[in-house]
Amino acid sequence: MVERLGCDLSPIDARSEDGALSLVSCVWPDQVHRLERLRGALRLAQEHPVEVVRQGGGDFLDGLELRARHHTVVWHSVMWQYVPAEEQARMMARLHELGAASGPDRTLTHLAFEPRRLVPDGPHRFVVAATTWPGGTERVLGEAPPHGVPVRWGDPTAEA
Ligand SMILES: C[S@@+](CC[C@H](N)C(=O)[O-])C[C@H]1O[C@@H](n2cnc3c(N)ncnc32)[C@H](O)[C@@H]1O
Repeated sequence: MVERLGCDLSPIDARSEDGALSLVSCVWPDQVHRLERLRGALRLAQEHPVEVVRQGGGDFLDGLELRARHHTVVWHSVMWQYVPAEEQARMMARLHELGAASGPDRTLTHLAFEPRRLVPDGPHRFVVAATTWPGGTERVLGEAPPHGVPVRWGDPTAEA
């Protein structure tokens, strides 16, 4: 791992006491397993700090470039529905632009855990999907409950 960067419109510093408290307050007190996972994530945040800039995904991706001899992963979870349609289109266009600039020595994966309909008018299901470049082929890797675990690996569209 060379570098990790993140963005959010309202970033929370998970390393600060205030930030950690804000995040813990988002979990219902009887959701013991989620609290345990969050406390584990807060410990990781202390050990492996990540810079999270105050920026929308569109601006963030505009500033992203692929690097020679590196694999870049753009990851997001449960944020897409909050992004205005215009910014969603901009983000997808930028991902395709980066994909077109990829090559064997600078590869790209767009990895997402987001809700989508697997069949028209069907319910929204939360799937893990990865698109890799060169090529730009998307694969649905698994499905999980909205809060992320357990992931059932395998393509749920195969059974939809
Ligand atoms: C439901 S939270 C998901 C947080 C986390 N990714 C997770 O899976 O638990 C949605 C997050 O998306 C962020 N967000 C909303 N619109 C955004 C945008 N246009 N660009 C970047 N982040 C955005 C919000 O600030 C919020 O932190």
